[in-house]
Amino acid sequence: MKSKEPFDRVSAAVSESRLWRRHVDMGQIGATPRGGVNRLALTIEDALAQTQLLQWASARGYTASRDEIGNLFIRRKGTDATADAVLTGSHLDSQPTGGKYDGAYGVLAGFEVLEALDDAGIETVRPIEVVAWMNEEGSRFSPGAMGSAVFTGSASLDEMQGKTDRKGISVRDALAETAKRCPVPSRRLGEVKPAAYVEAHIEQGPRLESAKATIGVVLSIQGSRRFLVAIFGEEAHAGTTPRRHRKDAVSAAVAAISALESLTADAHDTLRFTVGCLDVYPSSPNTVAGKVTFTIDLRHPDEATLTDIGDRIHTTVKEAAALRSCTAEITNVSYVKPITFAPHVVDRVRAAARDEGYPSMDLPSGAGHDAMHLSRICPAAMVFVPCLRGVSHNEAESATPEDLAAGTRVLARVILELAG
Ligand code: GLV
Ligand code: MN
Ligand code: MN
Repeated sequence: MKSKEPFDRVSAAVSESRLWRRHVDMGQIGATPRGGVNRLALTIEDALAQTQLLQWASARGYTASRDEIGNLFIRRKGTDATADAVLTGSHLDSQPTGGKYDGAYGVLAGFEVLEALDDAGIETVRPIEVVAWMNEEGSRFSPGAMGSAVFTGSASLDEMQGKTDRKGISVRDALAETAKRCPVPSRRLGEVKPAAYVEAHIEQGPRLESAKATIGVVLSIQGSRRFLVAIFGEEAHAGTTPRRHRKDAVSAAVAAISALESLTADAHDTLRFTVGCLDVYPSSPNTVAGKVTFTIDLRHPDEATLTDIGDRIHTTVKEAAALRSCTAEITNVSYVKPITFAPHVVDRVRAAARDEGYPSMDLPSGAGHDAMHLSRICPAAMVFVPCLRGVSHNEAESATPEDLAAGTRVLARVILELAG
């Protein structure tokens, strides 16, 4: 029987206070007045967060590199220089009114595992790399999980580098800016083949808290589709233009969104439909709007449902717009199919929680994560910890030092086993 001793040692070396301090320090970068963070991908705040991580890494003698899509890797050597690395991590970018834990936790937990291995004097056969994936949130540049999608070949480098934000700045230019602000040696995409990937994250939902479980053993991630809708009307004077002569893009957008809410109504509340961005042009109180754009985020665990409902969006929007004398254009931005994690890595997460004596529960993930892309190229799994009332994508997001450390101990055991 395999000795449990190194597993207990690395677990004991995980420092709750150090991990918490790192969250406090990271949470100061892009801090918002209501206690959250605003660290959109490839902004100055994102570069500062990367610089902070690099300082911690260099103090430990780990090496760093960044690939062509801006993923940042921190590497702790293995005894076999030719062995494929075990990867762990998440993202340092945030929502515009984001919390301190969504993403940062996975990076800091991974980093804590490296430090705990050092402190416990444990060498691994495989190298271990902590990754901060570029633009997981997809708030500034769409689609989200962009860095991991390119890394795994699910999206093309050239196409993603050409994506622009609302000001017209391209990912390519923003990457160059980040490289100037925070220089790191380059690495080619494909240079590292992951042996496995495990990501720690706050749950972002209420199930662990309700069940009084400390660890979520994540079985799957539901699929998601994103669309961009543009409704075209005609600008006109708000005081003089009779309703019957108007081509009011706002009125058409309201009708379209209402029709979409009917299309996506679901008695089980499994299908998730969100319009998160809505822009009106020219946005003047006394001009009938000539154009409205809005985003659609659609999610479901079942691919057939997601395909069927998603494919009906185009007709639903066009018909609603036509009834208001407007036209519509719908762009398919992304379609990430549902995934299930590798059962043998999931089993290890469950076993590690048991070895630590933490109550755990199996659950699917409603949120998207970089692990969904990684799971297509290597065995992957995720470890969830509770967050207060399940609140996330909100400055009020909150998690306890104890739970963050508990998830990290579980992560440490799984990573050590995978890295040998
Ligand atoms: C990631 O934040 C997502 O949109 O699920
Ligand atoms: Mn996240
Ligand atoms: Mn998020």
